[in-house]
Amino acid sequence: MTHFVLRCGRCDRRYAADMTTLACEHCGTPLDVAYDASAPRYLRGRHDMPLPLADPASALTLGEGDTPLVPLPAIATEVGLDRLLGKLEFVNPTGSYKDRGAAVMIAVAREQGITEIVEDSSGNAGAAVSAYAARSGIKAHIFAPATAPAAKVAQIRIYGAEVHSIEGSRDDTADAAVAYSRDNKIVYASHAWSPYFPEGTKSFAYEVVDQLDGLPPDHVVFPVGNGGLLLGAYAGFRELLEWGHIGDMPRLHAVQSQSVMPLVEGMAGREWDSSTATTTVAGGISVVAPVRGAQVIDTLRATGGSAVAVLDEDILGMQRLLASGEGVFAEPTSAAAFAGLKLLVWDGVVERGGLTVVAVTGFGLKDKLPE
Ligand SMILES: Cc1ncc(COP(=O)(O)O)c(C=O)c1O
Ligand SMILES: [Zn+2]
Repeated sequence: MTHFVLRCGRCDRRYAADMTTLACEHCGTPLDVAYDASAPRYLRGRHDMPLPLADPASALTLGEGDTPLVPLPAIATEVGLDRLLGKLEFVNPTGSYKDRGAAVMIAVAREQGITEIVEDSSGNAGAAVSAYAARSGIKAHIFAPATAPAAKVAQIRIYGAEVHSIEGSRDDTADAAVAYSRDNKIVYASHAWSPYFPEGTKSFAYEVVDQLDGLPPDHVVFPVGNGGLLLGAYAGFRELLEWGHIGDMPRLHAVQSQSVMPLVEGMAGREWDSSTATTTVAGGISVVAPVRGAQVIDTLRATGGSAVAVLDEDILGMQRLLASGEGVFAEPTSAAAFAGLKLLVWDGVVERGGLTVVAVTGFGLKDKLPE
């Protein structure tokens, strides 16, 4: 018997945990891991937490997590805040936050005896999944848009994964991955759908609280496409709240690009017209139809958070200021969070004196290089 099941957050149906059940058979909603009250806690990095593994010995690590939380005074001045901290997620083994989720998702696959998987990605999740798959002896097929940055594709390849390059949008890439997985009967280990991926990213919340000596920040800002980090962080903060380790839930905010902003429109109660999508320098958040979109919106609302959209020129300006003013070289998708933070301060959503943490999700050298 395991200590968890997969649960539909919409209609509360429960399913036995495996790698192939991704959506509720009744209503199509992506599933979440739900633990028994007596679920054991396993050590991950320096923190213990419930994890979706039958045996703690199945855990997989390349040393992900325990990333630095550093003050960003130049950006704080630029956006109008007294206290701003960046959590440098690009210090993870493959250079992005995705390692947290991939470590747990691939450990679950290995524990279940899976030897081959399919994933689709704008690049970073593909690199993370490929690295952990390599470490587990699992063959990975990574579907990526033909426009994916060359460094990310090279990184996926050197980990031994097979790259399937797809002409068309990020969503066309996902469709091609689903079709390949179905036609070849290979498990679709999608970081967007998998209930296990956010179980990996929840360690982000444990670390932030620990690094702030037990006090949660007032605000946490994320660049959001599918919501893999935001949803995991929320799960982590909720566990800490339930066990009385923190007294308050931070307000979680999502930043998108004005080119692709389904969640921003969704927060305003509107349906985003996907035919208006254009290309953006923030490729990691260029997700036209996020599979967990409704869940992200519920999460933002539950925490009193919000969603804002930013322009490419402001993203690139923040990328430059982060590098020249702070010594932090982040990819454009990550810099978008700071451009969004500036709007949140202007709008009075984030107050000057509050403590704000921004997830600096990916390293600058992984993307198209700035001129
Ligand atoms: C660097 C970076 N930041 C943020 C994101 C957005 O993550 P999510 O789609 O899980 O919201 C991505 C996704 O690819 C990314 O590569
Ligand atoms: Zn359901």
